[in-house]
Amino acid sequence: MDIKKIKEQSFGKLDEIKNLNELERFRIKYLGRKGIITAILRSLKDLSIKEKKYIGRAANLLKEKLEEAMKEKIKKISAQDEVRQERQNDRIDITAPGIKLPQGHLHPITQVLRQVEEIFQSMGFKIIEGPDIETEYYNFDALNIPDEHPARDAWDTFWLKTKPEKLLRTHTSPMQIRYMEENNPPLRIIVPGRVFRYEATDSSHSHTFYQIEGLMVDKNLPTGRQGVNVANFKAVIEEFFNRLFSKDIKARLRPGYFPFTEPSFEVDIKGGRFKKWLEIMGAGMVHPNVFKAAGYNPANWQGFAFGLGLDRIAMMKYGIDDIRLFYKGDLRFLNQF
Ligand code: PHE
Repeated sequence: MDIKKIKEQSFGKLDEIKNLNELERFRIKYLGRKGIITAILRSLKDLSIKEKKYIGRAANLLKEKLEEAMKEKIKKISAQDEVRQERQNDRIDITAPGIKLPQGHLHPITQVLRQVEEIFQSMGFKIIEGPDIETEYYNFDALNIPDEHPARDAWDTFWLKTKPEKLLRTHTSPMQIRYMEENNPPLRIIVPGRVFRYEATDSSHSHTFYQIEGLMVDKNLPTGRQGVNVANFKAVIEEFFNRLFSKDIKARLRPGYFPFTEPSFEVDIKGGRFKKWLEIMGAGMVHPNVFKAAGYNPANWQGFAFGLGLDRIAMMKYGIDDIRLFYKGDLRFLNQF
């Protein structure tokens, strides 16, 4: 056969080749042991010297060209394969089941706070928040704790280098004043929030913790029966603990002392899984000087206030024995809730 024709034919075929299998078949057809070009080269020995030289050179040249072109073809095919593979990998199978994203949950303190809020809300208490950074006036003076009062020593305070001097509130009670300044009774509020005390930490003390302030004020009726009294307070908190812990919780009031309540109580609870009396909160009837500071006439109003340690409640609820666990962000702890 005419070498020129073979050349045209073979390059034409090579052009159409799309994969390595076809290319291998092509190689065998032209350059294999029984291939077309191989046959020509083998038949040279039967030709005259002149033909040998002429055809031999042409056949060898074609062989070289084809080998080179085949190498190029291999490169091209593998590049195309790569692209195809990439496309394959990128394809989205919309029928595949989804991958679940890891989902977090609320901090145990927040979980308990939500429950506490819900219970008080159902009893008509509004939820109010206040500033973490307070003035000396709201944290102390307005709460009947003047500068020289020894009760100030009971709160180890973080003072800020501001002018005038401010502090991180040591309790949520300042919101009693702030709220009463802006609102008229009757009122029922709880004030959850962070409070701060400059003290050494141990399993039951943290420099930062959560309190829930409670305040309920109504008219002071002139005849014996008063608007908001100690019995009301006891009923409200017993209902609260009954709903938070278990039905048979009893509250007990012991005399206590806070400058902003008179009389003041320490409140203990017992019942259900709490076999012994546990001190749980401070409370009292709002002191006349507190009403005065807020602009109320103390003769007209009466109310109770309480301060509840949220961390303490969460610890009791979940049986946690170290308050510091709440603030470490250790997932081995947090994941348990
Ligand atoms: N503020 C008090 C404390 O932090 C608690 C308290 C609040 C007591 C309201 C009485 C009334 O210890």
